[in-house]
Amino acid sequence: MDIIFHHPTFDASFWLERLQQQLPQARLRVWQEGDNQPADYALVWRPPVAMLNGRRGLKAVFALGAGVDSILSQLREHPGMLAQGVLLYRLEDTGMGLQMQEYAVSQVLHWFRRFDDYQRLKSQCRWEPLEEYQREDFTIGVLGAGVLGGKVAESMVSWGFPVRCWSRSRKHYPQVASYAGAEELPAFLAGTRVLINLLPDTQETRGIINRDLLQQLVRGAYVLNLARGTHVVEDDLLAALDDGQLNGAMLDVFSREPLAPESPLWRHPRVAMTPHIAAVTRPQEAIAWIRAAIRAIENGDRPGGEVNLKRGY
Ligand code: NAP
Ligand code: GLV
Repeated sequence: MDIIFHHPTFDASFWLERLQQQLPQARLRVWQEGDNQPADYALVWRPPVAMLNGRRGLKAVFALGAGVDSILSQLREHPGMLAQGVLLYRLEDTGMGLQMQEYAVSQVLHWFRRFDDYQRLKSQCRWEPLEEYQREDFTIGVLGAGVLGGKVAESMVSWGFPVRCWSRSRKHYPQVASYAGAEELPAFLAGTRVLINLLPDTQETRGIINRDLLQQLVRGAYVLNLARGTHVVEDDLLAALDDGQLNGAMLDVFSREPLAPESPLWRHPRVAMTPHIAAVTRPQEAIAWIRAAIRAIENGDRPGGEVNLKRGY
């Protein structure tokens, strides 16, 4: 079995060494310009078009992350990058669920205990106990209730917050109210105090966190964007922060990354941010997952993580 590999930033020799340990029978190589030799599987992130374009004989392409928006946008421009019958897989969890839980829990508790407000008071040398927030007024709404959104919703339940989620199909997570489809979005938003975004970036979800949506949240709400920057209309977010509709936003992802130095988000006092690190690909877990998926495919099965190209995730 031949496997080709491309990642713009990962240490390829580290990955190939570990892949070889897990897949001793495989012949692994880093793809180089001009390499048209046969391959059964491709492991990629932001692959050069020439790596996949017109390549025959591939059984599957594995994206080395959870979101496949970048590879799908390449595919729209170069449909030949995925020949008929070649399956596209993405990583499911592989350690990202726990990272998302850590991030979301720490940020929600930060807001709930008003540490952001106390930080502002500290900067003015003011000793001033504030009114406590009540859990029943702090409903957490998770947009996107798949592999990662589901994990985040569960972690919020264990902290005693009222939790709801929104997805395309109905979910049955214990103690999480499920809202499904566009027609239930307004009911999901009404009463949501903390909006956590874990949707995939698709034609339907791009720009979804806009003025109209933000106005439907409880006044003084918070937004935590852990998914993609393209979901948020940044000017609408800033306007909602400035007029008090939002109390704060924590952003891990941006419509343009790295965030441009002139972006007002850098300097806004109610915006906190991290540089797209909410959940990174963990090599050990990812490789074990890919190994299991390859074994399943070799046995004629269809493992989880297959991307539905029409749906866009
Ligand atoms: P997933 O399992 O595919 O979950 C996506 C969820 O969104 C599903 O619940 C899906 O509904 C829902 N959804 C999709 N389109 C919808 C629509 N039009 N209306 C309502 N609901 C919709 O994906 P995941 O593994 O949880 O990952 C989610 C995203 O997180 C990724 O796409 C990626 O962009 C982002 N991410 C970010 C980082 C980071 O470091 N910031 C790291 C990893 C991933 P159904 O369940 O009904 O299909
Ligand atoms: C990271 O953003 C991922 O999609 O895995």
